[in-house]
Amino acid sequence: MKMIFDTHAHYDDKAFDSDRDELLANLFSDSVAYIVNQGTDLELSEYGIRLAERYENMYCAVGIHPENITETSLDDIQKIKRMASHSKVVAIGEIGLDYYWDIPREPQKLIFEKQLELANELDMPVNVHDREAHGDTLELIKKYKPKGILHCFSGSVEMAEEVVKLGMYIGMGGVVTFKNSRKAVEVVKVIPLERLVLETDCPYLAPVPFRGKRNDSSMIQYVAEKIAEIKNISAEEVLEETLHNAKRVYSI
Ligand code: NI
Repeated sequence: MKMIFDTHAHYDDKAFDSDRDELLANLFSDSVAYIVNQGTDLELSEYGIRLAERYENMYCAVGIHPENITETSLDDIQKIKRMASHSKVVAIGEIGLDYYWDIPREPQKLIFEKQLELANELDMPVNVHDREAHGDTLELIKKYKPKGILHCFSGSVEMAEEVVKLGMYIGMGGVVTFKNSRKAVEVVKVIPLERLVLETDCPYLAPVPFRGKRNDSSMIQYVAEKIAEIKNISAEEVLEETLHNAKRVYSI
C-alpha cells in the first residue's frame, strides 16, 4: 500500500546524485504516495520544480533557507514569487530561522518575514525551519499567521500547542525514534494525530535503526511505527491520517 506522504525532502541533494531517478521510481512504485521536495535557494528551488515535473506525485516548495540568506536580495523574493506560479509548487519553503549556525539574525528575520508575506499574498502554505530560534519563530508565526507546517519540530509541548492553535501542523521525522528524543515524544503524545504530518528531511535524519545513514522517504515507516507506539494505535492509522493531513495542508 502506498501510504507514505513525505512532506519535507531534499532529493536535489548530492547524496542522491548516483541513483536519484532509480530511487524515486522505486519509492513511488513501492510504499510512497507523495513527496514534497523543499527549496533552499533559487537554483535548488528551480531544480525541485524540474524534479517534480518528472513524477506525477512529486511536488515541491520554493524558498530560501536561512542558511542561504547572506547573498539574498529582495529581488530574489520576486523570483520565488514567479516560481511559485508553477502548477507543481505547493508551498513556500524551506524558510525560517537558524540560530545554531553563526548567521546574522536580523537579515534572517527580514528574509523570513518577506517570504511569510509572500505566502500570505499567494494564499500558499509555508514549511518552516526553526533551529534554536523558538522565541522569534513563534513571534513571527503569531504576527503573520501563515498556513502550513513547522518542520522537524524541536520546541516544547507548550510551543507545539500554540502553533497548533494558530492553525499550523507539526512535522515529525526520524528524530522521534532517537534515544534522546524525550521532547519529541512528549509532543507526539499531546498533539492530536490530525495535526501531525510526517517527513524525512532526507538525506539527513534517518530514523533508528538507520540513524546516520542516508535517509529516504520509505524510512518514514519507522517514524509511523514509533508514533503508533506512543499513541497506542496502529502504524496504518498513523500513515493514513497523516497522509490526509498533508494533502489538506498542501491542497493536493
Ligand atoms: Ni530541510
